[in-house]
Amino acid sequence: MFLVSGSLQKGRAQQDLVQSFVMSVCGLICALLLMCCQLAAGRLLATSNRTEMGEKLKQLLVEVSLEKPFNTALVYGKDCVFLPLLKNFDVALVIVTEGTTNFDWDFPSLTLILACGWDADREQNSRTLIKLQRARRLIYMENERIKPNEVCGTFFAKEQYNIAMIYPNFEETSLIYGCRNFQSPNYVELKLEEGRTAIFIQQFLNMQGSDLVTDADQLAPRSMLYRDPHTGETKMLGYVANTINHFVQKVNATLKFRSKSQVVGKTIYYGDIEKLIEEDLLDIGTSLGVVLGRSNLDILTYPYLLNSYCFMMPLPAKLPYNQIYMVIVDPLVLGIIFILFCSFSLLLIYGQATSWKGLTLSQVLLNDKSLRGLLGQSFPWPTSFSKKLKLICMLLCFASVMMTTMYEAYLQSFFTRPPPEPFLRTLEDVDSSRYLIVITKKEADRFSFHNNPSSNRARTKIVDNWSDFLQLRDTFNASYIYPVSEVRWRTYKEQQKLFEEPSFYYSDDICLSRMLFLCIPVRQYLPYRDLFQEHIQRQQEFGLTTFWIDRSFYDMVRLRLTPLEDFSRPQVAAEAIELIDLSWILELYVLALVLSCCFFALELCRGKKSSQKRITWNTILNWHNRN
Ligand SMILES: *[C@@H]1O[C@H](CO)[C@@H](O)[C@H](O)[C@H]1NC(C)=O
Repeated sequence: MFLVSGSLQKGRAQQDLVQSFVMSVCGLICALLLMCCQLAAGRLLATSNRTEMGEKLKQLLVEVSLEKPFNTALVYGKDCVFLPLLKNFDVALVIVTEGTTNFDWDFPSLTLILACGWDADREQNSRTLIKLQRARRLIYMENERIKPNEVCGTFFAKEQYNIAMIYPNFEETSLIYGCRNFQSPNYVELKLEEGRTAIFIQQFLNMQGSDLVTDADQLAPRSMLYRDPHTGETKMLGYVANTINHFVQKVNATLKFRSKSQVVGKTIYYGDIEKLIEEDLLDIGTSLGVVLGRSNLDILTYPYLLNSYCFMMPLPAKLPYNQIYMVIVDPLVLGIIFILFCSFSLLLIYGQATSWKGLTLSQVLLNDKSLRGLLGQSFPWPTSFSKKLKLICMLLCFASVMMTTMYEAYLQSFFTRPPPEPFLRTLEDVDSSRYLIVITKKEADRFSFHNNPSSNRARTKIVDNWSDFLQLRDTFNASYIYPVSEVRWRTYKEQQKLFEEPSFYYSDDICLSRMLFLCIPVRQYLPYRDLFQEHIQRQQEFGLTTFWIDRSFYDMVRLRLTPLEDFSRPQVAAEAIELIDLSWILELYVLALVLSCCFFALELCRGKKSSQKRITWNTILNWHNRN
C-alpha cells in the first residue's frame, strides 16, 4: 500500500511537476507575448504622439507666418523637428547643420530662424550676424532643464532680442515662451490656441527709459550743446541732434552722454566719434560720418544727407584803377577792330578810284582816312563823290560811333566800380595766388588731398588740431582758403549778410568731394537700427530735416555760436582817380609820341635825300591841307 501509495504519491508528484513546468512555460510565453504586445502598443502610442506634436508645431509655424510672413527658413541643428514640416510652406530653406554658414550671405529681412537646441546657432560671421539680428528665432529646447529666463538672458547678451522657444512638452502644454527685454521676468508665457498677444513683438518701440548713449561732435550747426538755464541739464540742438532727440522721445529712452563732463563748446573731430562707435562705446553718435573709403555701412545709417565738400574762397579784390585799361583792351576785340580797319581801307581805296590801281600795302595799313574815321575824328570827306563812296563813309562813321561809345562806357563804369580780379578756378590757380589752403591733417588724409597731383604743399597750411581749424575758419581771415561743407556754408552766407560787404564765396570748382554721403554713425549691433533708420526717413519725408537745416543759422545765433560782428575788411574806396592810376596810359602815350617823332625824323631825312627840297613848316601844313 505504502509502496502503492508511494508509487501513487510518486506518480502524483511527477504529474504536479509536469503541470507546474507546463504552467511556468505558459506563463513565460504569456509574459513574452504580453511584453511583445506592450512593446507594440507603446510604439503605436509613440507614433501617434509624434504626429500630434507635428500637427502642433505646424500650427505654431502657421501662427508665426500669420504674424509676419517669412520667405526664408534658416534651420540650425541636426535632424531638427521643424525640418519635415517646412515642406508645407513655400519658402526657401537653408539647413545649417554645422551651426555656422561661414560666408557673408545676404539673408533677406523676412527670414525665420528655427533652431533645435539653444546653442545650435554658432554663427561667427559678423556681417551675417548683423543681417540676422532682426530675424525672428524660434528655438526648440531639447534640454528641459534650462529655464526660459536663462535662455533669454543669453540671447540678450548676444544682442539678439527676437526670440521665442518651446519645450519638448509643448504637445501637452501648448506653451510658448517669448523673450521680452524691458521687463522682469524677461519672458512671457503664451498659449498656442488662445487669443493672445503676438509671439514676436518690436520690443524697442518702448525702451522703458533705458539709456541711449551718445556723444556730440559739437560741429555747428548739426550738433550743438548747451546748458538748460532752468534745469542745468546738458541738452543738444542742431539738425542731427534734433533727429536723435526726437527718436529718444519716440522710443521712450533716456539720452545719456558718454562722458558726463562733455564740455559745452568743445568740438570733437567726427572721425573720433566714428572710432568710439567702432569700439561700441556709443549707441548713436550725434555727428555725421563719411561713407568715403568704407566698403560697407556697418557702423553708419542709410545716407542722411547728400552734400558737397568744397572750399570757401576769399572774394577776389577789386582791380586797381591803373589796370583797368588792360582789362578793356582785349586782344580779340583789337583783332576784330584791325580787320575792320583794313576792310574800310580797302573799300575806301576801291571807292575812290573804282579800280584796284592805287592798292599798296602801305595804303591799306596806314590809311589815314580810315584810321581817323574809326577813332571818331574828323577826316576829309572825299571830293569826287559817288553814292557808293558816300555809303562807305557813312558805315565808317557808324562804326566809329559804336566803338568809341563802347570803350567810353566800359571805361567810365569800370572807373566808378572796378571789376574784381579773376576768380580762382583750379588748384593751379591757387598755386599762383597769394592765398593759402588751410586743412587739418586728419581731413587731408581722409580725402587724400595730398594725392591730388595739383595740390601744392607750399600753398597748403596743415593744422593739427581740429578745433583750431574751426576757430580760424570762423574768423573769416581772408588770407586763407578753407574747406567747408555746403550745409555749413549756408550759415556763413547768412552771417555775411551782416557784413558791410561779403568776403567769401563758395567755390563749386575746387572741392574735396562733390558728392559726399553723410550718415549718422550707429553701433554695429544696434538692435534698433531699423527703427532709427525708419525714423530718419520719416523725418526727411516730412521735410523736417530741411526745415532744421534752414533755420540752423538762427539756432547758432541763439546759442551765441555766431558773433554778430563784421569780419569783413572793405577796401577803402579811393576818392578820386589820381594821376598815378593813369600811369600805364601815360607811358603808352609817351611811347607812341617817341615812335611818331622817330618816324617823322626818318621821313624828314628821306624827303631831303629824294627831292633835295627843303621842307618847311609851310609845306607840312600844305600837305596836311591837301589831304
Ligand atoms: C590772417 O592771418 C594772417 C596770417 O596768419 C595774419 O598775418 C593776419 O593778421 C590775419 N588777419 C586777421 C584779420 O586776423
